Amino acid sequence: MTGYNAYPETRLRRLRGTDPLRNLARETRLSPKEFIYPMFVMHGHGVREPIEPMPGCHQVSLDVMSDEAGEAAELGIGGVLLFGLPAEKDPLGTEGYDPEGIVQEAVRTIKRDHPDMLVSTDVCMCEYTDHGHCGVIDNGKIDNDQTLELLARTALTHVQAGADLPAPSAMMDGQVWAIRQALNAEGYDDTPIMGYAAKFASGFYGPFRVAAGSSPQFGDRKSYQMDPANSRMAMREIESDIAEGADIVMVKPAMAYMDVIREARERFNHPLAAYNVSGEYSMVKAAAQQGWIDERPVTTELLTGIKRAGADIIISYFAKDVARWLQE
Ligand code: PBG
Repeated sequence: MTGYNAYPETRLRRLRGTDPLRNLARETRLSPKEFIYPMFVMHGHGVREPIEPMPGCHQVSLDVMSDEAGEAAELGIGGVLLFGLPAEKDPLGTEGYDPEGIVQEAVRTIKRDHPDMLVSTDVCMCEYTDHGHCGVIDNGKIDNDQTLELLARTALTHVQAGADLPAPSAMMDGQVWAIRQALNAEGYDDTPIMGYAAKFASGFYGPFRVAAGSSPQFGDRKSYQMDPANSRMAMREIESDIAEGADIVMVKPAMAYMDVIREARERFNHPLAAYNVSGEYSMVKAAAQQGWIDERPVTTELLTGIKRAGADIIISYFAKDVARWLQE
């Protein structure tokens, strides 16, 4: 081989020969502390209803949720993220900002039973509205500024119940700002906000919408969630969330957006979360159930990829599985 002088001096395989060497040379490691585990909470008692397209995930009542949160705490998982299934849906999603609503009760329950567990809450309207959109509908359109007021009330009631990290996901302009103002006005200056800053209009949310019963009843979310084709726009979304006061920013989904995660990591100094969403989870589970892929190495590889791309925090339905594997 003329012109290539590195070999035989350079032998990259030297660092791959044994487990100890591979361990020393490893650049990216997963740890349970950086994971957030999402849960779907509903009214009732003793409910643990399997979510068909998300094997291993359940809709749970408060008592069961508390046990699951305890399990997550024992596994060393960094936090939980709560989604609520209200008793009733209506045009303005009123249970979403009811101080006695399902998520507010869930926050109080976890804080009572597992005070050290970090509780993040999804702040959005689509689970609570009968039309399934993430905002107030006026004249057939999603009204940005009317929605801000309700999102701010939602976040405030979550924090008053004890939530540590409200996470607005409605993709309304100004939502982080509106929540920051509302929290400050009530003396919650110290409560951080995690903005779903770059949230794309993704087909990968399908299984979640089954779990949360939150599919839009007409139209789609493209007038508020981002076009999957746009990474420069994603940087503007993150910039604006930061300017509005976000303490942590997010890219969502993760797997098809690793370039966006990497770019966000390089440009911004805020902690960066990536949401490994329901459809990403379902694809792995389904293929594994068919025996077409091996779940554990594939999952580990995907999550390691998300972290290698630059995520500090990974929100994932795999959180407990990974934490268990890491214990072995
Ligand atoms: C609420 C919300 C959604 C997800 C997180 N928050 C659904 C959506 O925007 O349609 C999706 C999460 C997942 O797919 O795991 N707006």
